[in-house]
Amino acid sequence: MKVILDTDPGIDDALAFVLLKAMPEIKLQAITVTHGNTTVEKSTTNALKLVELLGMQDIPVAIGANQPLVKALSVAEETHGDTGLGHAVLPPPTITVVKENAANLIIEIVNANPGEVTILCIGPVTNLALALLKEPSLRKKIKSVVSMAGTIHYPGNATPSSEYNVFCDPESFDILLHSGIDLTIVPLDVTYQCLFTKDHVARLKGVRADIAEFIDRSTAFYMEFHAEYQGIQGCAINDPLAAAILVKPELVTLRDYYLDVELHGDFTTAKISADHFNATGNPPNAKVAMEVDVEAFMDFFIERVKLL
Ligand code: RIB
Ligand code: CA
Repeated sequence: MKVILDTDPGIDDALAFVLLKAMPEIKLQAITVTHGNTTVEKSTTNALKLVELLGMQDIPVAIGANQPLVKALSVAEETHGDTGLGHAVLPPPTITVVKENAANLIIEIVNANPGEVTILCIGPVTNLALALLKEPSLRKKIKSVVSMAGTIHYPGNATPSSEYNVFCDPESFDILLHSGIDLTIVPLDVTYQCLFTKDHVARLKGVRADIAEFIDRSTAFYMEFHAEYQGIQGCAINDPLAAAILVKPELVTLRDYYLDVELHGDFTTAKISADHFNATGNPPNAKVAMEVDVEAFMDFFIERVKLL
């Protein structure tokens, strides 16, 4: 499966990098980086560090959008730390980004592989929106998009009603929602059931020491955030779940919904509206993961990471 990873590393993004390395079924074509958990400069440095940690140097990394389409930049350093990788420390990268920017690299790869590329979006979708605006024909050439985004019934983690990736750039998410692309959404409703704990860290015995240490130190910060800000024990590994369903779709139960995103709310901007009873009369525009086999996912994550 040919995949472009669009990402804002970010601690849970980093765990998705680790899992993607442990899923040979996935042929990563590129890693495109966006603003989100931190600035795009820091996210890009983190992506390059993770590529070197995981031996993924054959995969091109492209720097992308440094700000959302319309609203001002948001970052979440209380969640992911000043560097974006929590307490983890990785050596400065010795590799660099390719010359193309993220949107142009997405256009180039999709045009070269029409109908074959899935884009895994685990951050704000600004890069994809820019690519679609620049080359509208891409809508028919992208095989599918899987996006960790939104929340349907679960409380928002950015505002009371919005999830962070959509909150960062709701206009871009609106473009994706109405692009006609085969779209799967992985919302907080399922990702916040997948809480990675110190017990899971303990199960990583036997994993390559530098990777195990990275996971332990990065998630330690993430767990501190979840405890202090959300009263949650453990940390929601949102992005690895979105990655996992690429090879194990049976981990989740998908429901077809027509989704819209609020762009002009006083209190609800970036809220996702899911048309459960077809009140709009519109056909569904997304498959939404509404249930997850938590134990099966956590076991899958641990067992795959132990292969590294
Ligand atoms: O709301 C969770 C999402 O926002 C995750 O992708 C996390 O990395 C942040 O980007
Ligand atoms: Ca992310």
